Amino acid sequence: MKSFIENLPKAELHLHIEGSFEPSLMFKIAKRNRIEIPFKSVAEIENAYQFSCLQDFLDIYYQGANVLQTEQDFYDLTYSYLQKCATQNVRHTEIMFDPQTHTSRGVSFKTVINGISNACEDAKQNLGVTSLLIMSYLRHLSEDDCFKTLEQSLPFKDKITAVGLDSSEKGNPPSKFTKVFEASVKEGYIPVAHAGEEGDADYVWEALDILNIKRIDHGNNSLQDTKLVNEIIKRDLALTVCPLSNTALQVVSDLKEHPLQKMMDLGLKVTINSDDPAFFGGQVNENYIQIQKALNLSKEDLFRLAKNSFKYSFLDTDTKNKYIAELETYYQNNK
Ligand code: HPA
Ligand code: ZN
Repeated sequence: MKSFIENLPKAELHLHIEGSFEPSLMFKIAKRNRIEIPFKSVAEIENAYQFSCLQDFLDIYYQGANVLQTEQDFYDLTYSYLQKCATQNVRHTEIMFDPQTHTSRGVSFKTVINGISNACEDAKQNLGVTSLLIMSYLRHLSEDDCFKTLEQSLPFKDKITAVGLDSSEKGNPPSKFTKVFEASVKEGYIPVAHAGEEGDADYVWEALDILNIKRIDHGNNSLQDTKLVNEIIKRDLALTVCPLSNTALQVVSDLKEHPLQKMMDLGLKVTINSDDPAFFGGQVNENYIQIQKALNLSKEDLFRLAKNSFKYSFLDTDTKNKYIAELETYYQNNK
């Protein structure tokens, strides 16, 4: 099963580039920029990665991002993630980035977007990995602040496919961002949002009905409400599920208790993703491997999950079909 998963062609649809920041690269960049970080070694950083909830994690995640300053830093961060994609048979990835985490520290939007998008271009050429970018608004900040980010993004619109909503969910419902999402959609960005990770089903309803999202990040708590589940199915929206993130942030107590199989049985379209791989103990393949083991998923289940990852990506139809054909051939030859 392990090698079946490792060789399975797949896409990753829920990945925060700042969450792919490995401790070793963090040290290297901190040294290059002569920035002090409050850890003496990689082991010390890894020891600090024990979380009891989303906010616990976010506090340390934003701290790590502070060392990123130059275009080269954002390039190195992104290219390093894309190299991992290539070794994991991730053919395509949709990368979230949080501009406000950087612009609030005086790093320009241009520095962030150019570093990230140049790495994506090079990875496409050199590694054959394709990518799209999702600009995520930080929901603990004001809607006005998000509007500033939207404005800053406009000169780089051709590099950005979608807008997302992340950070502290509870107390920051989707309805807080009604206007900025409306304006973002007018600019041509596809709306997605984190919903139902720690927030209840009513946050998912708001994301659907007010923000009109085209994909749900996490969405676990949708299962609280049968009517909502049916609405998600009716709208044919996929959930980007992140098993190791869910156990690391105690959204789910144990992988054996994970609702993924239940979601699939109900008819929800589910994908498997890593969220913040440097913090949660594994890239996308480790997520597949561990959830397969915990829930005893079949090869057919894994094939369906990988197929969803291409089908519910924001790629054009021809590219989607090319990847799906490759996946189908792989499955036929290896099932
Ligand atoms: N949830 C909310 N915000 C985030 C996450 C997450 O899982 N990862 C990075 N920012
Ligand atoms: Zn996330």
